[in-house]
Amino acid sequence: MSAALRRRLRFGLAAWRSVASRLPARPHGPFAPDVPSSLTEAECRLLAELAREGEALEVGSWFGRSTIALGSTARAVHAVDWHRGDGHTGPLGTLHPFLRNLARYGVRDRVVVHVGRIEDVAPALRDGRFDLVFVDGYHTADAVRRDVDLVLRTVRDGGKLAFHDFGRPEYGVSEVVRELGADPQVVDTIAVVEVTPEMKRRWSELRGDAAT
Ligand SMILES: C[S@@+](CC[C@H](N)C(=O)[O-])C[C@H]1O[C@@H](n2cnc3c(N)ncnc32)[C@H](O)[C@@H]1O
Repeated sequence: MSAALRRRLRFGLAAWRSVASRLPARPHGPFAPDVPSSLTEAECRLLAELAREGEALEVGSWFGRSTIALGSTARAVHAVDWHRGDGHTGPLGTLHPFLRNLARYGVRDRVVVHVGRIEDVAPALRDGRFDLVFVDGYHTADAVRRDVDLVLRTVRDGGKLAFHDFGRPEYGVSEVVRELGADPQVVDTIAVVEVTPEMKRRWSELRGDAAT
């Protein structure tokens, strides 16, 4: 397929998603099945279970399907995305459809929207603040490692760290989950590990100055 055709297809898809995000929410399924995402229904259910009654941080929201799943049960969700896409999603502006989707699914008042890179947002987040952090940003091993460096300290001891696209050989997520040294609970392609003081200590020894 030529580069020009690929560009045209990507543009057509983005235009369709933008139109679709203006339509009223379809009533079938609680987890926003008409919001573009690679999350499965089982993954959405898992996120909703993990977030129940707690405070969650999300790295990478895209069109908001995972944010909606988290926001369906959480007390609050801090959703961080610069809304410009990345090397895997392609360069796509998602902020406006994201905000519309949160409103359509009735979770807007429980979501604190941070429009920016996690590198810039994370330093302002307090240690141990979150019960759950969901990592679903750029999926190279270096980027996921960097995300862990930035967010691990923000998970309370005994809280959970969840990663999307675990077990997919084209991404670096599994490599980083292995480096955390915990046995993950896996549902489809989400891996969940419990965060302990020991894990935080091991990670900062492993990463040295890179871990903040
Ligand atoms: C795989 S998508 C997220 C999918 C979403 N969780 C869902 O439910 O479908 C990855 C998102 O991460 C965002 N992203 C990539 N690098 C980022 C960074 N350094 N800081 C913040 N957001 C980033 C991209 O803009 C993109 O929207």
